[in-house]
Amino acid sequence: MDRYAVIGQPIAHSLSPRIHADFAQQTRIALEYEAIEVSQAALEQELSKLHRAGYKGLNVTLPHKVSVAAFCETRSERAKLAGAVNTLVRSDTGWNGDNTDGEGLIRDLRDNLDIEVRGRRVLLLGAGGAARGVIGPLLAQSPAELVLSNRNPWKPEALAEHFKPVGALRPCTHLALKGDRFDLIINATSAGHSGEMPRLPGQLLAEGGACYDLSYGSAHAPFHAWAESQNASLIADGIGMLAEQAAVAFELWNGVLPRTDALIAVLHKALWEFGAA
Ligand SMILES: NC(=O)c1ccc[n+]([C@@H]2O[C@H](COP(=O)([O-])OP(=O)(O)OC[C@H]3O[C@@H](n4cnc5c(N)ncnc54)[C@H](OP(=O)(O)O)[C@@H]3O)[C@@H](O)[C@H]2O)c1
Repeated sequence: MDRYAVIGQPIAHSLSPRIHADFAQQTRIALEYEAIEVSQAALEQELSKLHRAGYKGLNVTLPHKVSVAAFCETRSERAKLAGAVNTLVRSDTGWNGDNTDGEGLIRDLRDNLDIEVRGRRVLLLGAGGAARGVIGPLLAQSPAELVLSNRNPWKPEALAEHFKPVGALRPCTHLALKGDRFDLIINATSAGHSGEMPRLPGQLLAEGGACYDLSYGSAHAPFHAWAESQNASLIADGIGMLAEQAAVAFELWNGVLPRTDALIAVLHKALWEFGAA
């Protein structure tokens, strides 16, 4: 049976084994998928070990998305652009790195939520690994404007420079957003994991605007509360993106794109029932 895994630290609460078990059942492809805790210090050694053991593919999560690039034999254009890798595909001699996070977000916005990016004013909060993964795909949708705002003001400047060849990104600090209005506000910060919300000026959301959070479970609560206070017409968490980026990874490994609609509903229900983070 083909073997796959998600590697990260911590990893015990990862939903990826559950997601890929669903895909395997749905597509009738027999596989084993496990969650493996890997420390930063052991990353290179563990990647070699998993390759020798015959694993066909790996998902990569925090804190390895950036550092794993150094151990890839090749990287896709989108992984190079993002500077982050979330999916490894086995070759005979090593690992090919890819990044499916951005496509996962776009698929969730477009196919599941019917949220249009083209021609809209979009604000992206946060400038970490997740933001890097979604900027290229967001720019490819031709928003009217993409503004990147972060607590550390230098990171958006650097990312605007980095992404210049693919499109215009306006770097900003949270406070300098005062007076701006957006049709879509996407939270790509990890603030929710410590029960926090970035400090933003009021009235950032245009009438009828939508709010999307890459975080999910209890980490989504602060952004959800803020979005409600802004009278958002639609508020979504990152479960759909999680399922979609996994589906794209599954397709890279198996050549079949699984369905996600029923799974997303099941994962939402599970998060409500068990309060999983
Ligand atoms: N749904 C999905 O499929 C999916 C995929 C990837 C990531 N994610 C989620 O996306 C989030 C970000 O992940 P990441 O990999 O980008 O993390 P990261 O690389 O550690 O970056 C964290 C970002 O959050 C900001 N931040 C953290 N605490 C903050 C606070 N209290 N106030 C304001 N800003 C704060 C940081 O700002 P500074 O630069 O100022 O420190 C930085 O921009 C996480 O919640 C992760 O679970 C979801």
